[in-house]
Amino acid sequence: MQERLKELQTEALEKISQATDLKELNDIRVSYLGKKGPITEVLKGMGKLSAEERPMMGALANEVRDAIASGIEEKQTKLEEAAVQAKLATEKIDVTLPGRPVRTGNHHPLTRIVEEIEDLFIGMGYTVAEGPEVEKDYYNFEALNLPKDHPARDMQDSFYITEEMLLRTQTSPVQARTMEKHNGKGPVKIICPGKVFRRDNDDATHSHQFMQIEGLVVDENIRMSDLKGTLEVFAKKLFGEDREIRLRPSFFPFTEPSVEVDVSCFKCGGKGCNICKKTGWIEILGAGMVHPNVLEMSGFDSKKYTGFAFGMGVERIAMLKYGIDDIRHFYTNDVRFLKQFSIQE
Ligand code: PHE
Repeated sequence: MQERLKELQTEALEKISQATDLKELNDIRVSYLGKKGPITEVLKGMGKLSAEERPMMGALANEVRDAIASGIEEKQTKLEEAAVQAKLATEKIDVTLPGRPVRTGNHHPLTRIVEEIEDLFIGMGYTVAEGPEVEKDYYNFEALNLPKDHPARDMQDSFYITEEMLLRTQTSPVQARTMEKHNGKGPVKIICPGKVFRRDNDDATHSHQFMQIEGLVVDENIRMSDLKGTLEVFAKKLFGEDREIRLRPSFFPFTEPSVEVDVSCFKCGGKGCNICKKTGWIEILGAGMVHPNVLEMSGFDSKKYTGFAFGMGVERIAMLKYGIDDIRHFYTNDVRFLKQFSIQE
């Protein structure tokens, strides 16, 4: 019996040393140490032994069992280590391979221009105000001195939703809304960026949806010279320190007097080129002194308060600044177009 056990130990250790993978090793464990294994079998014969022999044989059986178990454990560690090494060898990282480029997005050119203009005016003490895109006829027209049937309503073809609601044709209604909230107390100093909608046929310079930025200042003693000074700072910051502006008389029902504002051409410096159509000047926005009717309708005393307002098309400014020749590029969103604006200035 003793010999049989020794034999089993030698046999098992031999097999363990030859095992090449973990599965094989596990099979060995099951076949030698399992309940139906040969050691258990040998131990079943213990009953035939004398009382002195029994504990000795028991101890030997345990020894053999332990020897096999630790042999298996040792081998298992070795095999596992080898497996890790093999894995490391096959998965070696070649640090000389070039990296995969990570494509990042960037702000839409219109967002960039809006943010740039916002920052500029915030720097001059303005706050940003917003209003709804689906607007009441009252704010879009009536409160801006354009009663129903006023012929100047034809200047802006509109998308009506009901008799009293429309897609706003300009950001000027935000002026009226903001003044109303001020309950007749100045100062008001806001800019309002936002989408506007007009029933235009889309072409290189027209889009049924576009963006405007509106500015409004109402306080005591606000004069036309304040408007001019403000717009001059704006034009210089946006188009270059050498720029000049000029005001031409114009008409808007909500301002009196009304002006159109030109900036001296940033390409030719005023000599005349294709961008300024040989005039040396480029029109950038409409503006004027807030009409007393508009102040009164929104709760301001027009004897005490005066104000100026201006409004510009953001696409037009972006087209001029970046040399873009078709307004539709902003809305077709061809990635090749948008990608050109990924480098921050
Ligand atoms: N709302 C005018 C337009 O869309 C622009 C403007 C705004 C003019 C404010 C004067 C004052 O044409």
